Amino acid sequence: MKKLPVIIDCDPGHDDAIALIAALASEKLEVLGVTAAAGNQTVEKTEKNARKVLEICARTDIPAARGRTKPLRNPLSVAPEIHGDSGMDGPLLPEPSMPVCKESAAVLIAKLVEESPQPVALIVTGPCTNAAVFLLAYPHLHKKIAKISLMGGGAYLGNRTALAEFNIWTDPEAARIVMESGIPLEVYGLDVTHKAMIYRQEFSLFRQRKETVFQFLADLLDFFGGTYLEARHLPGAPMHDSCAVIGLTNPELFTYRETTISVETESARSRGALTMDLRPGAERQDSVCGKIALDVDREGFLKVLLRACETITRQRREKGYAS
Ligand code: BDR
Ligand code: CA
Repeated sequence: MKKLPVIIDCDPGHDDAIALIAALASEKLEVLGVTAAAGNQTVEKTEKNARKVLEICARTDIPAARGRTKPLRNPLSVAPEIHGDSGMDGPLLPEPSMPVCKESAAVLIAKLVEESPQPVALIVTGPCTNAAVFLLAYPHLHKKIAKISLMGGGAYLGNRTALAEFNIWTDPEAARIVMESGIPLEVYGLDVTHKAMIYRQEFSLFRQRKETVFQFLADLLDFFGGTYLEARHLPGAPMHDSCAVIGLTNPELFTYRETTISVETESARSRGALTMDLRPGAERQDSVCGKIALDVDREGFLKVLLRACETITRQRREKGYAS
């Protein structure tokens, strides 16, 4: 089977780490590179966390680069109340030893896209800053981007404000550049990511397995589920970012609506909110530019994550790592 080449721009982040695991385990994707955005924490921290995840998955062959230190216009406002001071508090991991690329995120994305014989999908699970910088700087490469799959926004929900979700709210100008680029777009917003919930009583599915990756996931879930209980009163851990990966590998698990999608950047009250047209019949208009996921088969989704941990465990063993 021909794999879809992907580049993941992320801000790990507990759920970003789980998204990376899902992507690295999939036989349908080939991860060409991982780039880090400033979002959940400063880019120095998210980039270090990205390398920690690559190391735990025995994928130190994948290049990792650091992106911009701040959004295009907003000051950076990080989320320690959800992800802790390190951006990935909970699991105790050694400092990463694999090197970080000398190129910036946008330059690495351009290089990997240019070198790829096939069009590449861009998966964005943090603020869109790096993706926007890449799109602005390399217009001739747009045709080599097969699609952009991103976690952000919501049709009916916000979390950072009543109307805006964290990733989009952090850098609305960048999100608008990405969404108005004309590149096929898949959006996984809070409507669906809150349905892709692992409930607290299910964390033991990971904890009961003694292998490294299962324990890592259980540590992530304990911390993330804990902060979500405290800050948002949710009954589990919403798997926001892995939706943008599993949507590519298992689209049959999701229900989508086609629509126009953009971002409100002007109004003070709704800055960072998605703008879309979900009126019945609107999807037949010429201006449709993407699809938004609104529902997911939660149990199917959980099975994909459990299988991903099995796969990474096997891959670690094959490479001589302790299980
Ligand atoms: C998004 O914000 C971050 O906290 C998560 O990693 C996810 O990408 C959810 O609003
Ligand atoms: Ca994220």
